[in-house]
Amino acid sequence: MEILQIETEVLPAAVVDVPERLNLGRSNLNFDGLLKGDGLKIEEDGGAAGCGGKLWPAGEMLAYYLLRKGIQSYPRVLEIGSGTGLTGLAIALSESAPPNLKVWVTDQENMIPLMNQNIELNNLQDKVVAEVLDWGEELPEFLEGQPVDLVLAADCVYLESAFPLLEKTLIDLSNKDTKILMSYKKRRKADSRFFKSVKKHFTIVEISDFEEHARFKKDGVTLMELKKKTK
Ligand SMILES: C[S@@+](CC[C@H](N)C(=O)[O-])C[C@H]1O[C@@H](n2cnc3c(N)ncnc32)[C@H](O)[C@@H]1O
Repeated sequence: MEILQIETEVLPAAVVDVPERLNLGRSNLNFDGLLKGDGLKIEEDGGAAGCGGKLWPAGEMLAYYLLRKGIQSYPRVLEIGSGTGLTGLAIALSESAPPNLKVWVTDQENMIPLMNQNIELNNLQDKVVAEVLDWGEELPEFLEGQPVDLVLAADCVYLESAFPLLEKTLIDLSNKDTKILMSYKKRRKADSRFFKSVKKHFTIVEISDFEEHARFKKDGVTLMELKKKTK
C-alpha cells in the first residue's frame, strides 16, 4: 500500500508499544486500488490524543479484508476503538458499499476531533459519524432501536485493565446474528486471558482466506470472527 508520509517528528513512546518515530500529518492510502476515487486521506496526530491517533497494522489488515470480501450485506456498521477512523472510513469508500451504508466510528471522547477531521477530509459526512462509545459503559443512545449488522474492532486488545470492559461491550453489542470482526496484534502473553474469557460467550474462528493475510500474520497480526453462542 502506498503511504505518503508528509511530516515526521520524534515523540515519547506511549501506552502501547508506540514506536518513537511517529507519523504526524497526512497519509494518502490507496489500498492497492481497492478504494473508490482518489483513495483515503488520514490525518494522524502521532498519538497526541491517545494511542489511537496513528495508523496501526491491525486496522489496515481489517480494512483490506473487508475491501476484498465486500460489505454489500452490511448496511449498518459499528467500529469500536476506531482511533483515526481508518477502517470505518476505508469501507465507506469501498466499491461494494451499499447505497444506504451507515458507519459509526467510535472511541473515547479524546479521539472524536481527529475522527471528525478525517471524516471531513474524505467528504464522508453523509455515511460516517463519529460517536463516543466507552467500553464497559452502558451502550450510547444512538444504538437504541435497530441493531448493527457488523461490529469491527481493530487492535483493541492491548490493555489488560480494559479487557473486562471490552468483553462487556462486545457482549452488549451482539446478538446471535451479529458478525464481529476483530483484528489483533499479539504483544503480551496476558492477551490470551482476554480470549480465554471471551470464548465463554463467543465462538472464535480465525480468518485467513484473503490475499494480505500472510503479510500481516508474519508480523503477529491476526483476524478473527466472533459469533455469540446461543444459550
Ligand atoms: C491501538 S489503538 C487502535 C486504533 C484503530 N482501531 C487502529 O487500528 O488504527 C486502540 C484504540 O482503542 C481505544 N480505546 C482504548 N480504551 C478504550 C475504552 N475503554 N473505550 C473505548 N475505546 C477505547 C483507544 O482510544 C484507541 O483508539
